[in-house]
Amino acid sequence: MIVLEGRDLTKVYGRHKTAFHALRGVSFRLKDGEILGLAGESGSGKSTILKLISGLEPPTSGSILLHGRELSPRRTKEEYRTMQMIFQSATASFHPRRTIADSITESVRTLRGKNASVDFAALADLVGLPAVLMERYPRQLSGGQCQRMAIARAMAAEPEILLCDEITSALDVSSQAQILRLLAEICRKKHTSAIFVSHDLAVIRCLCDRVTILRGGALIEEGEVAQVIGAPKEAYTRKLVDSVLEI
Ligand SMILES: Nc1ncnc2c1ncn2[C@@H]1O[C@H](COP(=O)(O)OP(=O)(O)OP(=O)(O)O)[C@@H](O)[C@H]1O
Ligand SMILES: [Mg+2]
Repeated sequence: MIVLEGRDLTKVYGRHKTAFHALRGVSFRLKDGEILGLAGESGSGKSTILKLISGLEPPTSGSILLHGRELSPRRTKEEYRTMQMIFQSATASFHPRRTIADSITESVRTLRGKNASVDFAALADLVGLPAVLMERYPRQLSGGQCQRMAIARAMAAEPEILLCDEITSALDVSSQAQILRLLAEICRKKHTSAIFVSHDLAVIRCLCDRVTILRGGALIEEGEVAQVIGAPKEAYTRKLVDSVLEI
């Protein structure tokens, strides 16, 4: 079943002489429980797609459908709740002078109502951290712990879709691997779908079921990870794959 679909999405920033096409007619489909990767060089439009999906910015043209129903640029609270964004810099995404628990409570109450309660023990368990860490301030956590808390905050909203923008890029290799494993496990356990943006094809290969390759705001290639990364059809994808192997 298709949970989320993007049809012919275009995003133009600026006007007239300064008009810049950040996305040029990109379409995608996210299936139930699937992790879809978005890859491509810097500036290829990966984050722009997530901004359009999350409702942070409206598309210039094209449409986004949730369960087959077109989303309007003015989202309902329920639509915001159902798609949760996780960012690269977890520490900066939390209020510096609030405990993690307070930040999570605030987010949950905004999205699920004033009386919504949060099971902190279950959340901490879900992301593999001791519950006492919920009482800490963001600066009192490591980068990896903070990223787990950002995942906990997103999951506290009980979303159907996680939108992940380079969420492992600021971490060392071993924390990266742990976060990827955690994300895969959470998606399986909670039957959550995800769109996972990364410029790193090795990371995409580890985690994703399918991948879409972007360049200059245009879709270059898409398909099963094993096929696209294992046997790319397009020269650009081959170049990206080769650059990973070199490293
Ligand atoms: N608000 C904006 N105004 C003008 N141009 C923008 C704006 N936001 C993004 N762009 C441009 O759109 C293009 C795509 O940006 P985007 O952030 O989607 O790239 P990306 O693939 O996420 O890159 P990176 O890997 O570096 O994060 C870039 O050239 C960027 O400069
Ligand atoms: Mg980006």
